[in-house]
Amino acid sequence: MKRVLVIGSGGIGRRHLRGYLATGRARLSIVEPDAERRSEASAMFDLERGYADLAEVDLPAHDLAVICAPAHLHVPLMLACAAARLPFMVEKPLAVTMDGVDEALAAVTAAGILARVGYIRRIAPELLALRQRIADGDIGALRLAYVNSSQEFPKYRPDFQRTYYARPEMGGGAILDAASHAFDMLIWLMGRPVQVGAMYDRLVLEGTDTEDTCLVNIRFESGAMANLTINQFQKPNTNRSDFIGTKGNLTLEHSVLSYSTDDSGKPVETRDYMDGLVPTEAHQARFTIQANAMLDALEGKPCHLATLEDARLNLKVALAAKRSWTERKIITVDN
Ligand SMILES: NC(=O)c1ccc[n+]([C@@H]2O[C@H](COP(=O)([O-])OP(=O)(O)OC[C@H]3O[C@@H](n4cnc5c(N)ncnc54)[C@H](O)[C@@H]3O)[C@@H](O)[C@H]2O)c1
Repeated sequence: MKRVLVIGSGGIGRRHLRGYLATGRARLSIVEPDAERRSEASAMFDLERGYADLAEVDLPAHDLAVICAPAHLHVPLMLACAAARLPFMVEKPLAVTMDGVDEALAAVTAAGILARVGYIRRIAPELLALRQRIADGDIGALRLAYVNSSQEFPKYRPDFQRTYYARPEMGGGAILDAASHAFDMLIWLMGRPVQVGAMYDRLVLEGTDTEDTCLVNIRFESGAMANLTINQFQKPNTNRSDFIGTKGNLTLEHSVLSYSTDDSGKPVETRDYMDGLVPTEAHQARFTIQANAMLDALEGKPCHLATLEDARLNLKVALAAKRSWTERKIITVDN
């Protein structure tokens, strides 16, 4: 059994707690400064210990940390793990500015520890299948992607005005919070982004200082391009990505992957990767798959989860999107 320390037991911390417990391979403790949340989590889960502060924890006595505090705290928490040579998974986004990011990555490299980032979609069977089909050349050369990820966010996160989401300096908003997942998918499938142009605004949601809408265009090193649209207020739940190649299209709509090679309007192939599953259960199950992937990686097995370097590039795209609109220009993403 590995000793796993979950740092932050809010919305995502609890998903990880459930996920690691379901592996049957981990004994869990939490760090949670909010006393009410700490006792709630202790009542919900079979925990070894519940700490109020990281300073109380004997970090080297653990095998893995899962950093689930808001993103503006990720850099100091990663540095604490590196100093204790404690492997970790950090939730997305990596941080909210570049301040301290390179120092944290250098400390992790110097410590020689495993570190990955919680871009959960890398676990999704439909995304793995899509990636494989692109790699197999089924759509020829991938040249363009259109992504629309839009839904009524307050319905899924009723406390959104009271969480980090409402505050840009804590990592909230459509770009740092929601688009971050799509940026990871695009970086994973299309490679290194080199230029970013964007518009964004808070069009509808009340009680936040963050944008609820963004329109982002990305050009990649290969010359391919992507267009990403997000709004967080529309009633339908849209999650559609079209990957357009020289020989055909692959379209991912939620968990349904379809493959089209002509203008008949009928895909030659369609498969729902969640067919027969309850979506909420299937989503939670992915946190168990992710937890097993981290525990396997600790044992030296290969791991395709997002690296800190992937997440650093992702953050650069997000910050470039923000700058693009405030400065009204296309931003070059440097190294
Ligand atoms: N991978 C995903 O699908 C996904 C989904 C939601 C959130 N997230 C990410 O997870 C992070 C947290 O999001 P959330 O929705 O759980 O937020 P949340 O506000 O629900 O929970 C954050 C928790 O961290 C605690 N905390 C604050 N300071 C802390 C500290 N110094 N040490 C330990 N705990 C501390 C808070 O008390 C709170 O309980 C964010 O970076 C967010 O972007 C990822």
